[in-house]
Amino acid sequence: MLSCRGLRKDYVTERGEVAAVAGIDLEIAAGRYAAIIGRSGSGKSSLMAMIGGLSRPSQGQVTVDGIDIWGLSENALAAFRNKRIGYVFQFASLLPTLRLVDNVALPAMLGGGARSSVTYARAATLLGQMGLGDHLDAYPSEVSAGEQRRAVIARALINEPALILADEPTSDLDEQTEIEIMDELMAVNRERGTTLILVTHNLALAEQAEQIVHIAHGTIVP
Ligand SMILES: Nc1ncnc2c1ncn2[C@@H]1O[C@H](COP(=O)(O)OP(=O)(O)OP(=O)(O)O)[C@@H](O)[C@H]1O
Ligand SMILES: [Mg+2]
Repeated sequence: MLSCRGLRKDYVTERGEVAAVAGIDLEIAAGRYAAIIGRSGSGKSSLMAMIGGLSRPSQGQVTVDGIDIWGLSENALAAFRNKRIGYVFQFASLLPTLRLVDNVALPAMLGGGARSSVTYARAATLLGQMGLGDHLDAYPSEVSAGEQRRAVIARALINEPALILADEPTSDLDEQTEIEIMDELMAVNRERGTTLILVTHNLALAEQAEQIVHIAHGTIVP
């Protein structure tokens, strides 16, 4: 499902070049739950951003479902991201001026095609599954951080992505909420067969993964 070849990300800064990702080869099979671990600054988020089609590699290739994503045009890549990838990042915030149900429906409305009544019914169902059935009309500022994160998961699922990328989705939440949110993500992985890639500093969470990728100084350590 996912394959990275010779992946590099160099940032040019005033202090010179930083090799954030310094040559990564990686395979993650469809339906798998993989955890990416490593010290702060080791390059995990930089890797995720390239995998997710958000930040262009300095070198190398990312193939998702057989598609060389960085070979796509800007528009095709945007459509691919919207349709095939769900993002659950700590700071991937909801749009503050939209209700939760609008936030969740939005990626499907952008994709076009589906009727809005169908999309809204699905958004409501997903929010219900995330325990937010009573908060469909709430604005993000009216719910807790954990509830916002659940809404982000619902939003990530609206287009039935093949791949969910979660970069420290629970690191700012209390332990019980973290467990509940991870249970939701793992249930999606198990029940829908959605590939899940999780970046975490929580080793107990990482140990539940089928594949652990350990990154140090921009490369994979065995
Ligand atoms: N936009 C940027 N410009 C310059 N350097 C950057 C940029 N983004 C990241 N870096 C540098 O690249 C390296 C890897 O950063 P990255 O955010 O990928 O690490 P990380 O493993 O996700 O860390 P954390 O666990 O703290 O989130 C770090 O040295 C960081 O300072
Ligand atoms: Mg990071």
